[in-house]
Amino acid sequence: MSSYFRNRSLLQFRSFFSCALVAFVCFFVPHSTSGQATSAAYPTAQPAPEWDDPSIEPRVEELLKKMNLEEKVGQLVQYSAGQPTGPGTGRTDYNDMLAKGQIGALFNVVTAKETNAFQRGAVEKSRLHIPIIFGLDVIHGFRTEFPIPLGISATWDPLLAERAARVAAREASATGIRWAFSPMVDIARDPRWGRTTEGNGEDPFLGSAFAQAYVRGYQGRHLNNAESILACPKHYVGYGAAEGGRDYNTTEISEHTLREVYLPPFHAAIDAGAGSIMSAFNSLNGIPTSANPFTLKKILRQEWGFRGIVDSDWTSVAELMNHGIANDGATAARKAFQGGVDMDMVSSLYHDHLADLVHSGQVSEADIDESVRHVLRIKFALGLFENPYVDEKKESSAMLQPEAVALSREVAERSFVLLKNDLLSSATPLLPLSPDVKSVAVIGPLADDGAAMMGSWGGLGNGRDAVTLRTALNQKLGEARVHYAKGAEFSTATDAQIKAAADAAKSSDVAILALGENGPEMTGEAASRAHLDLPGRQEQLLEAVVATGKPVVLLVFSGRPLILPWAFQHVPSVLAVWFPGIQAGPALVRTLFGENAPGGKLSMTWPRSLGQIPIYYNALSTGRPATQDEARFQNGHDEKFVSRYIDEPNSPQFPFGFGLTYSTLRYGPVELNKPELRLDWLREGLNKSSSSGPAPLLASANVTNSGSLTVTETVQLYVRLEGTSVAEPVRALKGFQRVTLAAGETKRVVFSVPAEAFALWNDQNVFTVEPARATIWISGDSRSGTGAVIEIRNKAN
Ligand code: BGC
Repeated sequence: MSSYFRNRSLLQFRSFFSCALVAFVCFFVPHSTSGQATSAAYPTAQPAPEWDDPSIEPRVEELLKKMNLEEKVGQLVQYSAGQPTGPGTGRTDYNDMLAKGQIGALFNVVTAKETNAFQRGAVEKSRLHIPIIFGLDVIHGFRTEFPIPLGISATWDPLLAERAARVAAREASATGIRWAFSPMVDIARDPRWGRTTEGNGEDPFLGSAFAQAYVRGYQGRHLNNAESILACPKHYVGYGAAEGGRDYNTTEISEHTLREVYLPPFHAAIDAGAGSIMSAFNSLNGIPTSANPFTLKKILRQEWGFRGIVDSDWTSVAELMNHGIANDGATAARKAFQGGVDMDMVSSLYHDHLADLVHSGQVSEADIDESVRHVLRIKFALGLFENPYVDEKKESSAMLQPEAVALSREVAERSFVLLKNDLLSSATPLLPLSPDVKSVAVIGPLADDGAAMMGSWGGLGNGRDAVTLRTALNQKLGEARVHYAKGAEFSTATDAQIKAAADAAKSSDVAILALGENGPEMTGEAASRAHLDLPGRQEQLLEAVVATGKPVVLLVFSGRPLILPWAFQHVPSVLAVWFPGIQAGPALVRTLFGENAPGGKLSMTWPRSLGQIPIYYNALSTGRPATQDEARFQNGHDEKFVSRYIDEPNSPQFPFGFGLTYSTLRYGPVELNKPELRLDWLREGLNKSSSSGPAPLLASANVTNSGSLTVTETVQLYVRLEGTSVAEPVRALKGFQRVTLAAGETKRVVFSVPAEAFALWNDQNVFTVEPARATIWISGDSRSGTGAVIEIRNKAN
């Protein structure tokens, strides 16, 4: 048996150990069929990914020997040759450069005809015939657009992300694109940051599970499968911690927080086999992340053993000058290269200076060779030398296949989070609506705007492929029963528009308002916001419609948590629907009318007010923690000298993990199968011999569906550690599983809690288990429930 297979079986053991249980059944699924992935975030030795195949190495070396310095540098150079997604590159002479072997990769080229043409330039005209890789920001679909990633993460179902990524890979690869600049796995704790839309929210455990899922989806089982594309987790690292939520801004993150919060999703993605990674724009503790040997060399290469490509972000090499650590292009190129960036995206400074830096002895050719190996290894692994071209005739039939479109609808339905669903005077909640409703008003700038459904980074998504809410309502109820009034533009509205909308509501049984951000413009890169309300006059529109006295359902379309205190107080039913992709309308209509019960859970905290930001559930305690009792706060009886505001509760509007459904769920007390746990942890990881002795810790609770509809609930397991060498979060997610419950049904939900759930980066920055008092919650969100306590012991106590 090769070492590769021996390693695989170790991996299988680990997955088995950490998977979640329902009713004492643990399913081990080696690759991609578990929708309940709970293992991801733990630093342990992993087998080499399948693309790192030893048989490739002689081919890499043989080619390297033939290359001159200019050709080597060429492999480290990348340009955008299509619609730019950043500041202009100033170059257009790509064909000449390809013929000279001066380009290793191109991106933003999006048709098979164009990729083939450029590829011919590289393969047929250059001396060594080395193919180029084509990349693109394939973020949440290619042509078949799925919900935005923040929405996908609200499904809490990594398998859905994996399947969506596979669809995107299939479509993108049909055009010759074999590299997705995705997934974005930056932890985001500040909703002002526009790029929260692109990630998986605030939690490292959930974020790690999704990071792995996307990598598996893009890369498939084998990178050399023509439908597989290279994943590129980004932006390494800490980019989501931009001060003030302002894009590209400075970050200051302690090594402890870096290791516990920001690094795990990247590590998980590398563990899952990601073959490339993108360095970021931000400086981290004073050192820009695109020239940071601590993160790029020590952690990524030495600790994690990464052997793929480190790509810079768009001109982030040149931006070292703006950061102030280089006064000229040559120094910027040298610092980025020596800091650990293999490939220069767009700035052209490697092209301009690397060879000279070698000639002057400032950069060693051996280091250049090593970076070129990273690139060639991936090109061989992708099978580009054997199959550099794509079949142009097959391109269009690969797009928008019926199963892909159906999957997009399924993911959208599963991403919706029901934030509020009050009982009406009839003692029934407003949602779901009855299909017998006589008429509905559908109002708002997002009710009939296909392009907006794509959110930011819509790939090749086309607004015309999208079915809007208005269209889907017309299909469901017939046009005569649907009264449409736009009511407002995104940022403006006339009094007449608002009045027309209120009139439409008055003449209908119920009003559905589709309000929120203009996805492509107000979310994503360079779209940070200082105000997280409804843009323009949309809130006035909402108030005018609510004033009609008709029941109102508010659909909030956004790429981030929004702050809508008036709406949450006055509107009976509110759903967070993100930007749902091309099947927005059908998914929304099925949800509004109860064919789909919303089951999404927030992957990011929704604040009450801007002043609370940053607000995230897995915070540390303070020496003077405030009570969580909001009633006491409001009555003014709270203590004074505690960590709180005098004019706002500490609690969020909606916590991480929160989401209602069309039924009610009750959680019973947490039970543990033992009062203490002995775990011996060695420096290099869990001592398997000691852990295999006692049976694993089982934590369980009864969950009851006390309503009258079958629903699926995401049951969450949280841990707090106290008594450790460093302060740990007041709660940290360590497991989750989805459970379907019929009306009136109770299920015992059992988690097998792995030793890693009690591990931490200690005061020496070593990942280990320390003696501790652990509290374990099993709950439907990150704030509810009562924890059960267990003592964690090891040889030390
Ligand atoms: C973004 C990256 C993206 C790159 C290429 C940059 O501006 O930060 O996320 O992959 O452009 O389009």
